[in-house]
Amino acid sequence: SAQDYNEQYRPQYHFTPAKNWMNDPNGLIFHDGIYHLFYQYNPGGTTWGAMSWGHATSSDLAHWEHQPVALQARGFPDEITEMFFSGTAVADVNNTSGFGIGDKAPLVAMYTSYYPQAQTLPSGKSVEANQQSQSIAYSLDDGFTWTTYDEGNPVLLNPPPEYADQIREFRDPGVFWHAASNKWISVISLAQLHKLLIYTSGDLKEWELVSEFGPENAVGGVWECPSLFPLPVDGNGGSKWVAQVGLNPGGPPGTPGSGTQYFVGDFDGTTFTPDPESLKQTNWLDWGPDFYAALSFSGLPDTERVDIAWMNNWKYGGVIPTDPWRSAMSIPRKLSLKTIDNTVTLVQSPVLDAEAGFTQHWDSVPAGTTKLNLTGKALDTTLTFTKSESTQFGIIVQAMADFREQTRIGYDFTTEQLFVNRTLSGVADFDGSFSGVYSAPLASRNGTVTIRVLTDWSSVEVFGGQGEVSITAQIFPSADAVESYLFSMDGPTSIIDLEAKEVHSVW
Ligand code: FRU
Repeated sequence: SAQDYNEQYRPQYHFTPAKNWMNDPNGLIFHDGIYHLFYQYNPGGTTWGAMSWGHATSSDLAHWEHQPVALQARGFPDEITEMFFSGTAVADVNNTSGFGIGDKAPLVAMYTSYYPQAQTLPSGKSVEANQQSQSIAYSLDDGFTWTTYDEGNPVLLNPPPEYADQIREFRDPGVFWHAASNKWISVISLAQLHKLLIYTSGDLKEWELVSEFGPENAVGGVWECPSLFPLPVDGNGGSKWVAQVGLNPGGPPGTPGSGTQYFVGDFDGTTFTPDPESLKQTNWLDWGPDFYAALSFSGLPDTERVDIAWMNNWKYGGVIPTDPWRSAMSIPRKLSLKTIDNTVTLVQSPVLDAEAGFTQHWDSVPAGTTKLNLTGKALDTTLTFTKSESTQFGIIVQAMADFREQTRIGYDFTTEQLFVNRTLSGVADFDGSFSGVYSAPLASRNGTVTIRVLTDWSSVEVFGGQGEVSITAQIFPSADAVESYLFSMDGPTSIIDLEAKEVHSVW
């Protein structure tokens, strides 16, 4: 119930585990009218540890209910022999796997088994210490309880022989059904080599390697949590394929660690071919420091895609000042592809449940700060404004009246960049790299800019333009930093429209 989630910094409308450590979203699936969120979870503490799959469900993506742990690290809490790393889940509606019973089709999860010690498994297969292999589990009750396929696991023991030295860096299968070729596809990362391996299967058990992708664009760290999916372009008949890849470290410019990039291209059932346009520069899914391991839901029509990402960063994720939980998920984001300035671009739009709010209009706002009649920490605020004489314009949220604490979100007309400044956002001393200003390129439209700002008790998520750029950043302000202001630098800004809504809690 809501009153259990009032601790300092507890996100109100972003998903958090009641207690303990969480990282990547896993196995996102919409099935039988229910959205399932599984996630990397340590049932034993508030830092990364005995990795298991936690579980929560929702009927609308805006309210969540906690469920029992779905896949618990084997041997927990004593000696752990297998952890359940990241992966994905599908509905095997034709029972290709044979796990179904009678009319009951299985859900199948494909994930990385991480084996801390060398051992011979029940399937007779042997693994080395710290090996990562791909395994499957199935559910015959629509995703609530899961059985690991012990007689066959791991279904992909090793990477191909030429990459035999990468057995500890082979992970995070992104599995989906490809109707055109009548095959399952799994995209798996060779993390250190910045490669995705693409496998196909008829039954989710026997896998054949068919192609590789990468390295391309950002390769500053390891590649993790890959996925591949189609989306319509500009809402019409044509569609393109999107590959999303986590990168850690080596995220967006000026951020301290993890980031998520995407590629737009084509997929023919075996090979992903990026558009030349998509290789001209790195395409960041989010330009902030706290958006990693993005994954979309399976089970929705191919025209609908919704992503959720881990709203944290490996650089400082284990020391953020929250207790008894650590980490939140991003807001779910509807994805679409739009041609913007001749480039097919991924556009994101948040899914949330907000109270009809208030609107306000100004013909002009003078240089300096203008106090808003808007207080609170769980707000969805949209601002549209037009360039006149100012160099920067935007909103200050979660501010103290003396501005000792404040988070500045705005647009710089001179550099044409959206920015989030968390250098005065409250507690930051837990990590030397936490404090910072993050920017994303955003063209104005005849001088007019729209920004949408989602603030929660310990985060800001900002969408620019139509959602073609976003910046996500955690913040840890004092409880009494609740004021909001507009700011206009070096001159006035004109024609400002503001709409603000209070967002309902997820619980
Ligand atoms: C990414 C990641 C994955 C791995 C999981 C382990 O954040 O490192 O590659 O499967 O976390 O918890």
